Amino acid sequence: MPKVTFHIAGHATEVEDIAGKTILQIALDQGVSIEHACGGNGFCTTCLCTVKSGGENLAPRNDKEENMGITNENERLGCQAVVNGDVELEVLDA
Ligand code: FES
Repeated sequence: MPKVTFHIAGHATEVEDIAGKTILQIALDQGVSIEHACGGNGFCTTCLCTVKSGGENLAPRNDKEENMGITNENERLGCQAVVNGDVELEVLDA
C-alpha cells in the first residue's frame, strides 16, 4: 500500500491512508502537525515540504505553488501537492 513518510524534528511517521489527498490533508487526518497559516489555500508557504524521495509520485506543481515561488525540484507546498504513491518528506515542526 502506498505511504507517505513524514520526517519532523528527527522523528519519522508513516501514513498509508493517502489516496488522492494533499500532503497537508494526509498529515492533518493522521494528527501529524504541519504549519498551515493560510488554511491550506496556497498563500503563505508555511506548509513547505522538502521532498527526500518519491517526487515523481506527487501531482505536477500547480499555479499557486509557482506563484509563491516554489520552483525548486525538491520543494512543494503541502497544501497543494496531491500524493499518488510513496513519498518521503521533511517538514518543519508546527
Ligand atoms: S498552508 Fe499556506 S501555502 Fe500551504
